[in-house]
Amino acid sequence: MHQAALTIDPALPVSTVDPRLFGSFVEHMGRCVYTGIYEPGHPQADADGFRRDVADLVRELGVPILRYPGGNFVSGYNWEDGIGPRDQRPRRLDLAWRSIESNQVGVDDFVGWCKGVGSAPMMAVNLGTRGVDAARTLLEYCNHPSGTYWSDLRRSNGSPEPYGVKLWCLGNEMDGPWQIGHKTAGEYARLAAETAKAMRRVDPSIELAACGSSHQRMPTFGGWEATVLEETYDLVDYISLHSYYEEVGGDRDSFLARAVDFDRFIEAVVATCDHVRATGRHTKRINLSVDEWNVWFQSRFPGEENLAWGEAPRLIEDTYSVTDAVVVGNLLISLLRHADRVKIGCLAQLVNVIAPIRSEPGGTAWRQTIFHPFALTSKYGRGTVLRTEATGPTHETPEQGEVPILDVTAVRDDESGAVTLFAVNRDQRSELQCEVDLRACPGLVSGEHVAISDADPDAVNTGTANGPDRFAGDDPVNRRPQLMEWAIGKGYDLYRPGTGKLLVPGEKISWDQHIHAVGEEVTGGSEIGIWFYKKGEEPKKRSYLIGFTGIDRTKMLDIPPNSMAMTEGFTVLKENALIENFQPHFHLRGKSMQVEAILPDGSRQIISYVGNFNFNWMTNYIYDDDAAPLLPKGTVIHVSAWYDNTKANKNNPDPDQWVGYGDRTVDEMAHAWMNVVYFNDAEYKELLAERKAKAVKTTDNEKQQ
Ligand code: AHR
Repeated sequence: MHQAALTIDPALPVSTVDPRLFGSFVEHMGRCVYTGIYEPGHPQADADGFRRDVADLVRELGVPILRYPGGNFVSGYNWEDGIGPRDQRPRRLDLAWRSIESNQVGVDDFVGWCKGVGSAPMMAVNLGTRGVDAARTLLEYCNHPSGTYWSDLRRSNGSPEPYGVKLWCLGNEMDGPWQIGHKTAGEYARLAAETAKAMRRVDPSIELAACGSSHQRMPTFGGWEATVLEETYDLVDYISLHSYYEEVGGDRDSFLARAVDFDRFIEAVVATCDHVRATGRHTKRINLSVDEWNVWFQSRFPGEENLAWGEAPRLIEDTYSVTDAVVVGNLLISLLRHADRVKIGCLAQLVNVIAPIRSEPGGTAWRQTIFHPFALTSKYGRGTVLRTEATGPTHETPEQGEVPILDVTAVRDDESGAVTLFAVNRDQRSELQCEVDLRACPGLVSGEHVAISDADPDAVNTGTANGPDRFAGDDPVNRRPQLMEWAIGKGYDLYRPGTGKLLVPGEKISWDQHIHAVGEEVTGGSEIGIWFYKKGEEPKKRSYLIGFTGIDRTKMLDIPPNSMAMTEGFTVLKENALIENFQPHFHLRGKSMQVEAILPDGSRQIISYVGNFNFNWMTNYIYDDDAAPLLPKGTVIHVSAWYDNTKANKNNPDPDQWVGYGDRTVDEMAHAWMNVVYFNDAEYKELLAERKAKAVKTTDNEKQQ
């Protein structure tokens, strides 16, 4: 295991975080809008045709701004096509994505929806096929109160109040030859300056982002930014940059370290801005708008020119893995680290198209793996970024060279003083332990630790699951999707009627077999038996296998030779739960295990105890229906474990050995395997009442006898 260390000092702030760092992007592309956020006729559609299930996930994701309507799409878009009665809106060819645009969603629809999901629009204007005039009329339509042609048109279209759109993009990726209306740096710089001038006259309170480079490998990168800023410096607030990453040729080490490249890109753009500031004798600073970033497997995209014409086609619907989620988490750390200059960020895109949220037409909506690091960072990454000084191991990667294995940043919530650390382990082969020096933060105690991980780095979430996601970063302990654990001598697991494990179509079952050498050649054999519910019968509840830990410090055990030892571990139940069974798990030195429930009111119940553990005959104790512990959320499961490393333990191969944590049979571990079923508050109350009623009846019957 790698060891790293870091120091946090609140006296070393980097910058406050602009919440708009956690924005996303809705483009009229593929199925982001149509059958993504908008699908009239869907069972979840609201009166305006927007999907409620998708909107709920957008709220949960936490995106304060949403860039709209493109992307490459905006460079051929007539915004006027998307306003007024829906049945009169024209159908047009979208040349960017070879699609038919029905215009059923336009600026009014989007702004209304955006407000409903708690976001603000970041509007892009078309500087490809159009220019100053279309930009200033769109702004007048959106932000001017009333009494002019465009503002009154908005009012007659049903929006009496101005939208007050604050953030505007001056075109999209104008440096890219793929862009409709692509321009040289000089041509774009002039047009951007004139458009900015006109827009500021319509509404001086707006903020403007000029187009920077579409990626760092553009041949014009650097020079483009300098030319554009020399022309627009005093007229704009931000310069944009776009960056997408993918794993190339199976080089996962480099992929996991792509944030190093992202850091470099950001720092190069900052340097260019400051160079123009110096040479132009300007006082203000230009900040950065990273208004498209994500993991995108671009090498799998056939290119827009090879697409067949279609309406809301399935375009770049990348399915993200656990590895992709780690990379996204690291890119978020990079954005936070540069919060002094990066003020705007847009995860591209929001739904279906390289997106954290997926939806099926007429079907479900679900969170992809990358949803989880994003939602967590958006939730906890608000406040002040603190400088973190980390020391730790590095490793060599083919693309990024030597990189630190730990990447980390810290954000202090300025109201509560709570500090959240965001960290990734870039090494796929080894775990990483990190000591945090909090001496500069008196009073700070460690609170919650949320780990996003999965045993399978290629695992993905699929929309076929009707239960919670396989990869739910917010709770890998309580909702681990493990089928079962088997150990020597164990009989079986029993799921009560209406409960079971979830196996979705196409899902892989992976086996993790722990085999111990016995000094002779033997043939191993494993079989698995699964009983399926009959077709049409749907179990109501999913059962989760939890290994409640009996060790306080993750994977740290110290059992000296010829001695007894004891450890204990604590796990909080985040939901109301019914515990089905108890299967203590140790290796050769295990002696006894006790499981205690500490209820939210402070009362304690011993829910199981095994005093004479035998590694060669591990028993699974299944509770009777009425004895299965039913516990309210907030209950702490306290597991105490005792070890016997003396010669009195008949299973002990060598009492003179020191024993630590590990998977080998001669190493040790301690946890209580328990199957758990969760209940919402109403279900829990009902079950509790049933139990009480039964208990009263039993007592009455006993009295009568
Ligand atoms: O997000 C997909 C596309 O990527 C956008 O339309 C474009 O701006 C970028 O090249």
